[in-house]
Parts: sequence; structure tokens; C-alpha cells
Amino acid sequence: MIDTRIAYQLVAGDKGVLAIDESIATCNRRFAALGIAQTVEERRRYRDLLITAPGLGQGISGAILSDETIHQRAADGKTFVQVLGDAGILVGIKVDAGAHDLAGHPGETVTEGLDGLRDRLADYFQIGARFAKWRAVIRIDAGLPTRACIDANAHALARYAALCQEAGLIPIVEPEVLMDGTHGLERCGDVTTQVLRATFDQLILQGVSLERMLLKPNMVVPGSDSKTQESNERVAAATLRCLLEAVPAAVPGIAFLSGGQSVQAASANLNAMHVLARSRESRLPWALTFSFGRALQEPAISIWAGRESQRVPAQQALLQRARCNSAARRAEYTAAMERS
Ligand code: G3H
Repeated sequence: MIDTRIAYQLVAGDKGVLAIDESIATCNRRFAALGIAQTVEERRRYRDLLITAPGLGQGISGAILSDETIHQRAADGKTFVQVLGDAGILVGIKVDAGAHDLAGHPGETVTEGLDGLRDRLADYFQIGARFAKWRAVIRIDAGLPTRACIDANAHALARYAALCQEAGLIPIVEPEVLMDGTHGLERCGDVTTQVLRATFDQLILQGVSLERMLLKPNMVVPGSDSKTQESNERVAAATLRCLLEAVPAAVPGIAFLSGGQSVQAASANLNAMHVLARSRESRLPWALTFSFGRALQEPAISIWAGRESQRVPAQQALLQRARCNSAARRAEYTAAMERS
């Protein structure tokens, strides 16, 4: 039986979710750039460092692990699942099998992983996972995304979410519109609205309970190669407009991915949304928080770079990002926090 409270617990107060579910290939790529050995043991040491950061549970409600990580143990012999449980952090698991070329649609992908998912979800629940994540990837370019790509991904997200709820796990539904490209803010807003509407159409069609899921969308931002960059206030206004148009009020929470934004931009944009929400007469229907990967981890991984001597400073860097983003949830983040 699915516990609805898990969804609310994940977005409660000023907490957010730590995404450390990078695939082995992605983690290795980041390690290679920093001269860290690309081995199972180094990946274990790195995730050990992150999840044992003292007091992590003050700003982090849940951590999304990958299949490799959920089976690993910390240096003291405890399983990662136990470490997180002891810290009051809920365990999540990424269950998709990655984005693969969509037949007949050059430049577009569909996320795979539905085969055998029912059994895998039962195993993950048994191990201690209480929520899951599936990421769909949508690219903006000339003539993209196509309706075929949006619908194929929305369908897979909805089938994944229904299976999660059957297995007692809260699904995090992540349709990511990539930042890559030269498009502007408006185009990102239009595509994101279209993608979210298609996703909720499919979720409803598949009988997914909207009260027992979380949405993990991109913020509405200009493409990373756009000539026009936008203020935090304009990003906040465009993002809230899009979400209010497309996300039903029954959804308990929205937890953003960071998508390649700088750590400061991700915090400042989240903060600007809460400032804007407070200035309105009507409250937002859902909690608005973070589920960042890179925007929580980047300073920590660079400081650590595989060196045991840098373990504590790296943990401090992670905790600092968690504090900044919790402050953003309270509309209290300032650039001065970056210097503290
Ligand atoms: O699926 C992507 C991660 O869960 C979020 O990563 O914040 O680096 O975009 P990101």
C-alpha cells in the first residue's frame, strides 16, 4: 500500500532532494574531467562522502540513488540505505534505463526501461527505497521537439508512474526540456508547457494518483547558447506561469532539476519564484523545491577530486549548497550567502 505521506515528507518545510543517481558513464565522465580514477570503489567513496556529510538531513529530505549505489556500503560497513535512514533521509532510486534514439526521429530520444520494471520495483522496495525517478529528455531545435517524441516520453513516464504506485513507491516524474540550444525564454516556456500538459494527460489516462507523485521539471530558462540571458525575476515569472498553466493542484510538490545552470543561478531562480509567490494574493497549490544533481554536487566534487584529505571541505561545500537552496525555499537566499 502506497504511503501518501512520503510525497509530502519529500517536499516538507524548506528541504529538498539530493540527486546522486548519475549513471556510471556520466559519473565516470565527471571523474575523468577531474582526474579521479573511474572505478566502482571511487564512485562508492564519493557517494559515501556525500551521504555521510554531518547534518545533511537538516536540508535534504531524500536522496536519489542508482542501482550501483543502492547496493553499496559506507566505510563503517553500514549499507547506504541504513546511513540515509539514520540521517532521516528517504531513499529513492532511479529506475529508467536511459534515453535512446527514437526510431524515425533523428535527434530525439525516448527513455527506456519499462521491461521487467514491476519486478525491479518490488526488489527496490524490499531493500528500502520509498520513491523512484524516471527522466525523459526533450530537446529544442529547429522543428524539435516533435509531437511523436513528446507523446512517446509522456506515455513511458505515465506507465512508469503507475507501476511505482502499484509497488508502493512514490514516482518522481521528470520530463526534462534541455537547456542546450540558442532558443530564448519564451520558446522554453512554450515547449515546457506543451510537454507538461502531454505528461499529465498520460498520467491521468493511466490512472496515476496525482496526490501520490512529485513532478521534477526544468525551470523555464533561455538556451545555454542564447544571446539573451534573463534576470532571475523573469525566469521565475515564466516558470510559475508555465507551471500554473499545466500542473494540476492535486500534485503535492514540484522539485526542480538544475539542468546545467550554475549553482548560484539555480538557487537565485528558486529564490525569485518564492519571492514572487509571496507577493501574490493566492498561494501556490503545490510545494516548490529543489531536486538538484549538479547544482548541489559541483563544488563538492571539485574540492574533493578524489583526495581523502579534502573529504571534510567537500562535505562542507555540499552542506553549504543545501543551506543556500533551503534559504531559497524560504525566499531568504542572497548572494552574500555564497561568501559565508
Ligand atoms: O536527472 C537528473 C538529475 O536527477 C538532476 O540533475 O540537477 O544536474 O540536472 P541536474
